[in-house]
Amino acid sequence: MNLPNPNFSLVFLRRLVSGMALVSPLAAPLEAADFVHEVVPILKQHCAECHTDMKQKGGLSFNTEESFRKGSKNGPILDTAHPEKSLILKVIVSEDEEERMPPKGARLSAKEVGLLRDWVVSGAKWEPGFAFKKPPYEPPLRPRSPVLPAALGNRSNPIDRIIDHYLAEKKLPSPAPLDDAAFLRRVHIDLVGLLPDVGELRAFLADPAADKRARVVDALLANKTAYAEHWLSFWNDLLRNDYVGTGYIDGGRKQISAWLYQALRDNMPYDEFVRQLVAPSPATEGFANGIKWRGSISAGQIPAMQYAQSVGQAFLGINLKCASCHDSFIDRWKLSETYGLAAIFSDEPLEIVRCDKPTGKPAVPGWLFPELGTVDVTRPKAERLKQLAALITDPKNGRTPRTITNRLWQRLMGRGVVHPVDAMQSAPWSEDLLDLLGSHLTENHYDLKQTLRLICLSQAYQSKAESFSELPQEGRYVYQGPRPKRLTAEELTDAIWQICGSAPAKFDAPVTRQTSGEGAAAKPPMVRAALLQSDLLMRTLGRPNREQIVTTRPLDLTTLEAMDLNNGAILDSRLAEGAQALVARKFASSAALVSYLWQAALAREPGADELQAAVALLGEKPAVSAIQDLLWGVLMLPEFQIIR
Ligand code: HEC
Ligand code: HEC
Repeated sequence: MNLPNPNFSLVFLRRLVSGMALVSPLAAPLEAADFVHEVVPILKQHCAECHTDMKQKGGLSFNTEESFRKGSKNGPILDTAHPEKSLILKVIVSEDEEERMPPKGARLSAKEVGLLRDWVVSGAKWEPGFAFKKPPYEPPLRPRSPVLPAALGNRSNPIDRIIDHYLAEKKLPSPAPLDDAAFLRRVHIDLVGLLPDVGELRAFLADPAADKRARVVDALLANKTAYAEHWLSFWNDLLRNDYVGTGYIDGGRKQISAWLYQALRDNMPYDEFVRQLVAPSPATEGFANGIKWRGSISAGQIPAMQYAQSVGQAFLGINLKCASCHDSFIDRWKLSETYGLAAIFSDEPLEIVRCDKPTGKPAVPGWLFPELGTVDVTRPKAERLKQLAALITDPKNGRTPRTITNRLWQRLMGRGVVHPVDAMQSAPWSEDLLDLLGSHLTENHYDLKQTLRLICLSQAYQSKAESFSELPQEGRYVYQGPRPKRLTAEELTDAIWQICGSAPAKFDAPVTRQTSGEGAAAKPPMVRAALLQSDLLMRTLGRPNREQIVTTRPLDLTTLEAMDLNNGAILDSRLAEGAQALVARKFASSAALVSYLWQAALAREPGADELQAAVALLGEKPAVSAIQDLLWGVLMLPEFQIIR
């Protein structure tokens, strides 16, 4: 692709360049050390004595991720901008008697220093929930409808009543409201994964009605095809379903695509949805059966253990992977409990294997929260699974609705009430909010669209996002508004197709698309990226391969990704097709094309300087290559890629 030509105005170029800064890599991705199995043992052996439990020498405690990131009495010991200059790395190699760590006795070996360095330089990722000293928090199991504080001002949405109260208590300001155009863009992307089209944008801006935002939310949720084809990606990630990949050809794995697509279209109540996955039929068994790995596998990868891990993680936010070789070090789950859940699914009696050594002890089929009831171990498998499904979706089980509504909150608001979303064993930043979301779902017959609606209609959602560049370091999180999000791989791909009208005609997912029944929709809706196999561009933009459950797409761009955006062949051809399609639309003038592009991509008119620069780039009769350059420039803008 050609570089933007020199006619580009400086203002526009500067914006482009500042855009590039945002999409450029933070640090080269490094093979990170395994935190729990390589880093923790070093810290335990050499540092724990003085920096864990009640000991906090120098004000520094490694007990939890939060205390670790807070640092010493002198501040953070990690330098996020220049990780290699972090204090923690300096002290372990320092020759200065006053500074060196540990202060006396054996130094760290070169290998240990290397492991710590790799870990710090690759971002010092802490295993979610891991703590040297286990936090005493145990989440309540029962559902609870919180008592709502009085509404402040006119803000009566229950979410706002809780959050306004929360902010007032902390003496924090409410974030500024979102204007109509930004709201329309955000809510379109969040609910159906598409940009508002230009006609819709104009009509919405011109509409004086007070309830226009609520009407948009309802209309988007009622658009069955667009809704299903957007949320398909979320569920494919969570249920590790895909169209090609390991096991699909040799029968080691089975898709649930057709069932999933229809369930989303029909907005199947979530409790029923979970029951059909936990106690599967032929249409859904792909999830429960997992992946039959070829070759030798560890005890934790047998199908019954995969079942326990997948059900635990996806529906209950419980990490049983860490309790598949030994009792968990991050929360209270025991190896025997993982095996208990696995034994419900297993056709034969299971023997507990600890760290790949058989223990001789049989697994006793059992469910994780016996206070809600148990599974009758004398019944055949199909019945045991039905009983398990009933326990997971029992209305007295608050864990299931909290887990899914927390995931939806995270998708819309950028960060979970419990965070990360799979660490449901840890404390939320607002118990009232988490409980409200969960009980609201149960009271609304497990209708997930009602949860989305509740969130989208809150002033909290309709507020400006925090600024990306000023996000505080993860320490103790304090809510101050939605977090900015990046367009996902599918959203970005769809956006290009939508803006240019260049979507492909064919798709890969084995689903039945209905093109009628959407009211007035005369022409079939555009084919969506979620229905296609992944490609290199989508992969580098964060679409996972779905051999593992993925619940959060990456927020940082890696080097590879930035390269692909700069000169990747796939992006290049997608933009070339897009530019061709735009030429064919015969805009009356270059200015009209620019104005369209800005409204379609950014939900606003170009500024005078932008218009001038872009028209200068295009010339009177724009060549395809010039349009392609302009498209590229617009797509690289943070304003385009980031949902604020
Ligand atoms: C025998 C006790 C002891 C051990 C073991 C120990 N530390 Fe320390 N650490 C201290 C003391 C005491 C201070 C405070 C020093 C001061 O304030 O001058 C400290 C301070 C620190 C600081 C903060 C320095 C600053 O300027 O703020 C870091 C970082 C640190 N330790 C890292 C480590 C690491 C990493 C290990 C393990 C490799 C470790 N320590 C092992 C006693 C220990
Ligand atoms: C494939 C098996 C396996 C899995 C899965 C596994 N571990 Fe381990 N882990 C081990 C083995 C083996 C040890 C060695 C100690 C032992 O025998 O208990 C160990 C030890 C540990 C230790 C003690 C380190 C030390 O020396 O103090 C921690 C902490 C730990 N694991 C955390 C985790 C966490 C967190 C997870 C989930 C992310 C996890 N493990 C998953 C096999 C596993």
